Amino acid sequence: MHDQASELRVLASKERRKIRVIAVTSGKGGVGKTNFTVNLALALAEYGHRVIILDGDLGLANVDIAFGLTARYTIEHLLSGEKTIEQILLTGPRGISIIPGGSGVQELANLDRDKLTNVIANLGRLEKMADLLIIDTGAGLGNTVTNFLRAADDIILVTTPEPTSLTDAYGLLKTLNKEAGEIPIHVVINRVPTEADARATFERLEIAVRKFLHGSINLMGWVYDDPLMGRSVMQQEPLGISYPESPAYRCIQWIAGTVTGIYLSAPRQGGGVRGFLSKLLRSF
Ligand SMILES: Nc1ncnc2c1ncn2[C@@H]1O[C@H](COP(=O)(O)OP(=O)(O)O)[C@@H](O)[C@H]1O
Ligand SMILES: [Mg+2]
Repeated sequence: MHDQASELRVLASKERRKIRVIAVTSGKGGVGKTNFTVNLALALAEYGHRVIILDGDLGLANVDIAFGLTARYTIEHLLSGEKTIEQILLTGPRGISIIPGGSGVQELANLDRDKLTNVIANLGRLEKMADLLIIDTGAGLGNTVTNFLRAADDIILVTTPEPTSLTDAYGLLKTLNKEAGEIPIHVVINRVPTEADARATFERLEIAVRKFLHGSINLMGWVYDDPLMGRSVMQQEPLGISYPESPAYRCIQWIAGTVTGIYLSAPRQGGGVRGFLSKLLRSF
């Protein structure tokens, strides 16, 4: 009886909710990934999620700047063993944590055993700090980007209606089709004038993916082309803080609702089958 109870308790603790990893990517740079990521994090925080952003853009790591912050240390200091994860984390508004990544992210793949153990121990502590880890992966087909995408629970692909942005998004999907397998790919159409434009843009991409790649993508939402977005960038304050009523942020709040739906958890800590089980096991 005793053995069985402890076995069950281990089982229940293993079932405890793990951090979910969302990779935000695009085929082409400059389509709005970073601003989308930052404002998605803000909207998710409004819904009560604890969010960490990993700034994984090798070329242009600027998540900190979008928040009006300046990174003192980056993931390089973590990899070298000079700093701990707690020391490199930045804290943004609404309790959002930012891991300044930059070019150090690339080195993650080439660490020797000793350093790797240390990095895993540090990153493992993130599990308790947050519900969601959102990675701003940077654009393109580089190995680091596709490695991130392969490792994620979900991929959000950002594109604009521009032909070059769509073509590059298709190129990325073509690569992912071979590599990413079962990972759900959600598409966000950024900078659209109307809903009809968003739907038409998605349809063009979706038809190509279905016909030539025999794959599937789903429309997660769209974000209006909004001059307030540009203004918030100039002011170095995220849109969700400076213009929370803006059309673009409203769209992102709506998308955050969908993300929340994907990761729907028990309504309260003690709820659900797991809550029931853990209470039951405590009584042994
Ligand atoms: N919905 C939008 N409406 C208007 N301008 C936008 C929108 N999204 C992004 N932008 C503009 O595009 C620029 C590039 O965005 P950014 O998030 O840095 O792209 P990426 O990370 O994909 O390179 C921003 O500086 C902003 O001015
Ligand atoms: Mg960016």
